Amino acid sequence: TTEDPGELRTPIVAVLGHVDHGKTSLLDKIRGSAVIEGEAGAITQHIGATAVPLDVVSEVAGSLVDPTEFDLPGLLFIDTPGHHSFSTLRSRGGALADIAILVVDVNDGFQPQTEEAIRILKDTGTPFVVAANKIDTIPGWNPTEDAPVQQTYDNQSDRVRSQLDEALYELIGELSGAGFSSDLYWRVQDFQSNIGVIPVSAETGEGVPDLLTVLMGLAQRYMKSEMEVNIDGPGAGTVLEVKDERGFGTTLDVILYDGTIRQGDQIVVGGTNETIVTEVRALLKPRELAEIRTEKRFDDVESMQAAAGLKIAAPDLDEAMAGAPVRVVGDRDVEAVVEEVEAELAEVAVETAEEGVVVKADTLGSLEALANAMEEAEIPVMAAEVGDIAPRDVAMATTADDDKHRTILGFNVDVLGDAEQKAEDEDVRIFDSDVIYQLVDDYEEFVEERER
Ligand code: GTP
Ligand code: MG
Repeated sequence: TTEDPGELRTPIVAVLGHVDHGKTSLLDKIRGSAVIEGEAGAITQHIGATAVPLDVVSEVAGSLVDPTEFDLPGLLFIDTPGHHSFSTLRSRGGALADIAILVVDVNDGFQPQTEEAIRILKDTGTPFVVAANKIDTIPGWNPTEDAPVQQTYDNQSDRVRSQLDEALYELIGELSGAGFSSDLYWRVQDFQSNIGVIPVSAETGEGVPDLLTVLMGLAQRYMKSEMEVNIDGPGAGTVLEVKDERGFGTTLDVILYDGTIRQGDQIVVGGTNETIVTEVRALLKPRELAEIRTEKRFDDVESMQAAAGLKIAAPDLDEAMAGAPVRVVGDRDVEAVVEEVEAELAEVAVETAEEGVVVKADTLGSLEALANAMEEAEIPVMAAEVGDIAPRDVAMATTADDDKHRTILGFNVDVLGDAEQKAEDEDVRIFDSDVIYQLVDDYEEFVEERER
């Protein structure tokens, strides 16, 4: 049945990069261009994601895309806020995203979260392209709204063009420093061995046609076989966030990357203490912006098919864990599915030592990335968990024999009020950061200073 194009899953595209480099603006632009093209209705807003169907991609891309060359249904974009690690987006054995767009401000170049994103892309082997954003901010820029790069390039003065070239070559140099060979996308023959750099402006839409064309081409050429899944089979997804929602209690924001989920389905969800088995009470999709003002914020839907972002309302979700797997049981044995989920959690379980530091992270995926970074830096870990820093974490840290291990490293988490006081009283050092490698560096610096 894989012959039927309807059976191909939508590729998942993660948009990542440093804070303020323009990830959300770029997605807004893609949506906005589609509105202008009169295709707005076709684009659907999901929880944490935006689905852009193939016909819209080809409308926006104009002459650059011939839709008859493609049979994938479109692209599902996931926006990741700069202060949130892309590592949340994990799935069984690796990255949830099939492809990524690394957004870099051409004037600003590589920044801490750019480097972090790139390390994770490397670790997970996720193919990516680089959107060199904000080209319109080059002094003297002469914009041509929504134009392909080559066309807008020709409309610039020599001075502007050489300034853009310079910025782009600097970026290519930084990518090379990070271990990736790259070039301007129109010079790239093999996108698997060479990263394509696409100059864009989320403000004017210049280069956006090129970006969509490259993504679609990449997905079609290299990812088609991975999209040949049974999208009618039991759903599989990853929890992005666990949230209280008025009228629904605790809900899960989920990216469904495989199969179908239906109202009433029995599901298995990874939890902080125990694996949760529950039943879907409602599947929720955000409503169009215009409708939100007057009515409910969500539409109840009967079922959803991969790839999609959705909110799941169900009983007993209080202890569900961000980054954990969600599985529809279907006609399988529930015990077997519980085992599958637990095996997947075990795969991420951090190896702990008798002696070491305590680490905390906001999601399972970020905990995994943090643990990997600790291992690389040869810093022993005594305890590793998902969640905010609580007094009992401080108590745990005090059991370390070596004073330099009386520390807690927290990634993207809050320090609960009484934990802070307790840490002060018990002489436990707390490090927190939004950047994993910053945490490791800070800790190493602390150790060095102590030993001086
Ligand atoms: P976080 O979600 O906080 O990580 O930021 P982000 O990467 O989503 O950046 P966002 O899209 O919010 O853009 C940050 C600022 O840059 C906003 O003020 C945008 O208007 C501006 N901006 C983004 N892209 C462009 C661009 O191409 N040109 C210009 N001139 N401004 C841009
Ligand atoms: Mg944003």
